[in-house]
Amino acid sequence: MEGLVEAGLVKEIGVCNYNSGLLHDLMAYASIKPAMLQIESHPYLTQERLLRAAAQYELAVTAFSPLGALSYVELNMADNGESVLKQAVVQAAADRLDRTPAQVVLRWGIQRGTAVIPKTSQPERLKENKALFDFDLTDEEMSSISALNCHRRFNDPGHFCEEAFDCFYPIYD
Ligand SMILES: NC(=O)c1ccc[n+]([C@@H]2O[C@H](COP(=O)([O-])OP(=O)(O)OC[C@H]3O[C@@H](n4cnc5c(N)ncnc54)[C@H](OP(=O)(O)O)[C@@H]3O)[C@@H](O)[C@H]2O)c1
Repeated sequence: MEGLVEAGLVKEIGVCNYNSGLLHDLMAYASIKPAMLQIESHPYLTQERLLRAAAQYELAVTAFSPLGALSYVELNMADNGESVLKQAVVQAAADRLDRTPAQVVLRWGIQRGTAVIPKTSQPERLKENKALFDFDLTDEEMSSISALNCHRRFNDPGHFCEEAFDCFYPIYD
């Protein structure tokens, strides 16, 4: 990747699914530091320490699966009842702001300083998921949503790779 930057083919380097240990390792030898870290993050997996470590290294963070469980239900990697959008604190903020629970959860992601990359196959939801910049969550709402953290990781190769690819390849211990 550094060679590609030097050749002018790539502007910035991003890394994905790194924990803080891997970041410390990479930063010890990288001659061109990455600009972006992409990780799973949503109210059930807030990853505060990793965000703090990324900030220390001046890395921007993108949160994938920012809506939480939804995309994993159809893959049998989450239960229907696990939706972050059904949480009372999320619903209450949505009611107060006259927004949808998805917008509240995405706004929480942005307000805590991450970029969010929600996926949808529905054009109406695409518009909804982009309309995040004309309202604010209060500090109390931010804290209550962050307090939903239960270290629930939906996308764990150490779990799904074995069944899907017959390959045991953990990256989180
Ligand atoms: N780097 C990595 O290892 C990694 C891993 C996983 C994902 N990603 C990336 O992260 C992005 C999103 O992740 P994701 O698809 O796992 O999770 P997500 O965006 O958090 O959730 C997508 C799910 O939420 C539903 N949804 C979207 N908008 C909604 C709304 N406004 N209200 C209610 N439901 C809504 C979608 O259904 P509908 O389509 O029916 O709207 C879909 O089931 C993708 O671009 C993906 O490539 C990266």
